[in-house]
Amino acid sequence: MNKKVIYPGSFDPITKGHLDIIKRTSMLFDELIIGVFVNYSKKSWFSTNERVELIKKVLESEGITNAKIVEFSGLLVDYINKKDIDILVRGLRAVSDYEYELQVNLTNMALTNKKFETLFLTASREYLYLSSSIVKEVAINGGNLLEFVPKIIIEDVIKKAESIKDGR
Ligand code: PNS
Repeated sequence: MNKKVIYPGSFDPITKGHLDIIKRTSMLFDELIIGVFVNYSKKSWFSTNERVELIKKVLESEGITNAKIVEFSGLLVDYINKKDIDILVRGLRAVSDYEYELQVNLTNMALTNKKFETLFLTASREYLYLSSSIVKEVAINGGNLLEFVPKIIIEDVIKKAESIKDGR
């Protein structure tokens, strides 16, 4: 049966860790929806549109053709319900991720009657420490981003860091 699968996140910006989860999920299922959260409360570096464009660039350069990008706002479970999604994918890094993800997952379950499963993929060893926040910290301080974000978007992240430093 063709399952509808979503991998949601802030992707501010997409990291090599996200890409790893996307690649592995896209090999498990026929099709994958990457859900970019339109976050009104959290201050993000990149606009929703920019985050989508960066993911698009990465998917193209990696030749991933069975993933489509959507934007969603509000509760994830409402989106899952509306689009009749079967599986929610999340990446798990350290123990601290587990605590947070468990809390969110239990909250999601309490918020909806829709039957769906959450699939946790443990991060690959080289990305266990990696997060978008770390990427931004390295970028704003002029560090080398090659280990952390897909090569194709490095210039975009550097430009954004520079514009933030300039107060633009
Ligand atoms: O990349 P992130 O920041 O870990 O992604 C978190 C995200 C966007 C998947 C999560 O915060 C989310 O689902 N937000 C939508 C609002 C919601 O449904 N929150 C969960 C119940 S508290």
